[in-house]
This record gives sequence, structure tokens and C-alpha cells, in this order.
Amino acid sequence: MAVTKRPNAGAIAPLFLLSTAALILACAIATSHLPIEEATVEQIQQAFAQNQLTSKQLVNFYFDQIRALNPLLRGVLEVNPDALRQAEQADRERAAGRSLGDLHGIPILLKDGIGTKDALNTTCGSYALLGSVVARDAGVVERLRSAGAVILGKASQSEWYNVRSFSIPGGWCARSGQAVNPYVEGGNPCGSSSGSAVSVAANMVAVSLGTETDGSILCPADRNSVVGIKPTVGLTSRAGVIPISPRQDTIGPICRTVSDAVYVLEAIVGYDPRDHEATKEAAGFVPLGGYKQFLKRDGLRGKRIGVVRSPFLDSVNDSTVLTAFELHLKVFRRGGATVVDHLEIAEINVILDPFKSGEVPVLMAEFKVGINQYLEELIESPVRSLADIIAFNINNPELENMKEYAQDLLVAAETTNGIGEQEVGAIQLMENLSLEGFEGLMKQHQLDAMVTFGADAAPVLAMGGYPAISVPAGYDGKGSPFGIAFGGLKGTEPKLIEIAYAFEQATNIRRPSKLQCEI
Ligand SMILES: *[C@@H]1O[C@H](CO)[C@@H](O)[C@H](O)[C@H]1NC(C)=O
Ligand SMILES: *[C@@H]1O[C@H](CO)[C@@H](O)[C@H](O)[C@H]1NC(C)=O
Ligand SMILES: *[C@@H]1O[C@H](CO)[C@@H](O)[C@H](O)[C@H]1NC(C)=O
Repeated sequence: MAVTKRPNAGAIAPLFLLSTAALILACAIATSHLPIEEATVEQIQQAFAQNQLTSKQLVNFYFDQIRALNPLLRGVLEVNPDALRQAEQADRERAAGRSLGDLHGIPILLKDGIGTKDALNTTCGSYALLGSVVARDAGVVERLRSAGAVILGKASQSEWYNVRSFSIPGGWCARSGQAVNPYVEGGNPCGSSSGSAVSVAANMVAVSLGTETDGSILCPADRNSVVGIKPTVGLTSRAGVIPISPRQDTIGPICRTVSDAVYVLEAIVGYDPRDHEATKEAAGFVPLGGYKQFLKRDGLRGKRIGVVRSPFLDSVNDSTVLTAFELHLKVFRRGGATVVDHLEIAEINVILDPFKSGEVPVLMAEFKVGINQYLEELIESPVRSLADIIAFNINNPELENMKEYAQDLLVAAETTNGIGEQEVGAIQLMENLSLEGFEGLMKQHQLDAMVTFGADAAPVLAMGGYPAISVPAGYDGKGSPFGIAFGGLKGTEPKLIEIAYAFEQATNIRRPSKLQCEI
């Protein structure tokens, strides 16, 4: 209540007035039937099985949450007019004794760049793609539908995955405006899978999908106190997802718990002929019996965990955070892991500088090739090339807020000419940096995982296509969430899941944002 009484609150005041009303509504909803907020996939399935809840009730609950909270948080870009019908179908199937598995009847929100052949638009948050028609569902969406998941809607995201301009704040897109971190007044949700993380964090949906090229799952998970799995590149199909880079793009879950994220991962992994090369290579990583078997409370036992502090902890000055980090290392040891502390990654300063490593110039060239191909393959589209997108922004300055936000990266990408000698050299340098940096570290110390504070290690994992899981790790002195990330060699999701799950179960850190129900 203090927020609304604060003098001189300026432009923010109306937003928070709105939020206060929204909060009371959300509380009323939450207490009127089952405690659905924070419910896990497992708990929801149990409630389904005991006839305490239907998928239709669940969808209506999330629609109410979205109506109440989304005007403030802006995590949801579109809701699916078919969601209730899909939920009713799941309810009928279950009533007839037919279960499609763990995600049957579970509402999921998809990052906007993930293509769906239905009433929902696929736009990367930009008006330039509004009205475009995709040929078919993305590969991961096909899998979700056959697993019986309910497509609740599309999540907002940083427009064009933040490759419009580095000067645009994370979580902003023209179609949604600025997404808001539910834990921090006016707080940055981090991008580009901002809407996915904000929406699961605030209980506007059960589970969600994000995408990552460099940090776009790990960072929003870190900032919004949720779990993000960034799979090994190729473990999940990128077909039908608006691309940046075939070397680095990966699709993964953002959820409130490790087990929820693993249920979603399980449903979306595997070979896809439309993303042949990458998914064929990575399909061999999918373990017999799937990923659920690695949700083990004693998953830390026998693991070797390498701690890389520098430079990720160097700028941290908050004693709450530093104390929590040290306590977490004790949790690892108590769980039976060996902690190898104070490790360093070779050439880390080059790896973290996207111009020195060559990452940004290569991504620019890859994006132009990829986006032009994506646009050409659309059934209908107002834009057919990167040049058209740039022209659209120039011709629609109000819609795309060109006065405030530039498009220098799109323009830079347009000047590239495919993967030439320079790009090949830069790709080779990134491979060398990965082999001598992260892989060297993991092999030299025989590590099962590297643990780092926050999400700033994302480039280390991005340029080599390695997997990682971000897990909530605490709240700083001001109440802002932070996470820790476990990174591993390609295909080591089973070990990372064991470690992340055991850590989560031992610490149980996530708590719902104050926006939920504490007024
Ligand atoms: C998709 O965009 C069109 C405008 O082109 C809009 O009329 C429609 O409502 C949008 N779909 C959804 C599900 O919001
Ligand atoms: C850390 O805190 C000290 C004392 O409050 C301050 O002098 C210093 O500048 C801070 N360092 C950083 C990196 O913020
Ligand atoms: C990468 O490493 C290989 C083998 O060590 C070396 O021949 C090559 O020059 C390196 N390339 C770059 C760009 O660093």
C-alpha cells in the first residue's frame, strides 16, 4: 500500500494503483478454489486424477490471473482463443481413461518467436510480422500438441531477440511494451525470454518455453526466480522458430521448479527432419527412459562441481548474496559433491567480449541468412526480407517507437554478406576458445558441472552449444532474485538435472513474488 501513497511517484503511480486492485483480485481468485498458484505439474496431474480439478478450470484460472496481473507485468502477448477447447478435449480424453502423459491438459505459454499454425501470431514482438502466416507448427509445438499440452498463448519477449539494438531495455517489444519483473518495482525482467519467465513467476501459466542464443533463457530465469533449462544445441528442434544462429539457438523450458522444467524438456527433445543436422547429432544424447529418472534428491552425491567465481562474482557487493553463495557451496558438499573452488576459464576476457570473440559479427551474418530464409518460407507476410523489416520500422515510427529505440543492429546485420572468410575465422576462434576454455576446464578437473553466479557466464556456454540450468539461489538485500547456473559438456543434461534438482530440494529457495497475495 505504501507505493500508492508515495508522494511524487510520477508516471509510475497509475501503474501501481492498477496493480493494487489487480492484487486483491488475484488473491480472491487464488483462495476461492484449490491452491493452484505455485502448483507443480505433478500436483496438477494428481488433482486431475482425483477429480479435484479440470484442465478447463485451470485454463480459466490462468485467464483470470492474466486479466488481473498482465496489465502491469506484460508477460503475455496473446492468449489463445482455442485454449479452452483444447482443455475440454484433454478433460474428455482423461474422463475416457486415455492419458497422453505428464503434460496432458497442462497450459503452456510459448515465446512469441516460436511458430504456431493457429489463431496466434508469431512475430518476435514486432508489428512487422503481424499478420504473417507460418506454414506449420514449430517442431517443438508439434511435440507439445501430441503430448496433450494446452497452448495458452504467446509470451512477450525482447523484440527480435534483442538484435534490433543493444540500447533497447530487455523485455521490451513494440507489441507488448515493457515487461516488468514481478519481484522488483519497475524491475528489469531481462531478455529475451522475458515474458516466459515473468509469466510463470507470477503464476499466469503453469509452464513455458523460451529460446536462447546467448543468455536468453538463463538470464530471465535468474532475474525472475524461476528455473531455466538451456538444452545442448540440437537436443530440441529449432524448425519453425524465428532464428538467429544455427550454431547457438536452442529451445528450452522456463518453469517454477526443476521437475516442471524436466517434464517439459522430456516432451520436446528429439530428432526432427526439418532441423536434420543438429537434431540428428544430438538425438544420441537422449537417455533411454528419458529425463525424469534424474530427478533424484541425492543427485549431488559423487558429483564434481567446479566453481568459477571470477569475474562473475567480482562486482557483487551485497553481503546477502555473497553469504548465500558460500552457503550453497556447503549444500553441495553436504550432498556428497566434491567442490573444486576458485577455477578460471582460459581467455575469459575474450570470451565475454562479443566483439573480441567475434560472436556479435558472426551472429549478425547468421541472422541475416536465417531471417531472410524464414521470411521467404512464410505463407503470407507483410515483410519478406531483413531489408523489408528495416523499411517497415522506418515507415512505422510510432508503432515501433523509433523515436526512443534505434535499429542499429538490424542495419548492421543487413550490411553482412553471408558466412565468408571473416566469419569462418571468427567461428574457428570461438571453437578454440570453447575447447581451450570451458571444455579444457571441465576435462582437466574431471568436472560434472561448472557453477557460476547469475547468468553472466552465458557466453561461455552459448558459443560452444553447451547445456546449462539456472536455479533460484536467493534474494538480495533489496529483494531482487538471483540464481546460480550449472553448465556442462554437450549432452550432460542428466547430470545437470541431478545436481540442479538435488540443490533445489535441499534449499527450497523460490518464493512467490509479493505481487501475488501479500497485500
Ligand atoms: C493476431 O493478429 C491479428 C491482427 O493481424 C489479430 O486480429 C488477432 O486477434 C491476433 N491473434 C490473437 C490470438 O491475438
Ligand atoms: C562495494 O561497497 C563499498 C562500500 O559500500 C563501496 O565503496 C564500493 O565502491 C562497492 N563496490 C562496488 C563494485 O560496487
Ligand atoms: C584454432 O586452433 C587451431 C588448432 O590449434 C589453430 O590451427 C587455428 O589457427 C586456431 N584458429 C584461431 C582462429 O584461433
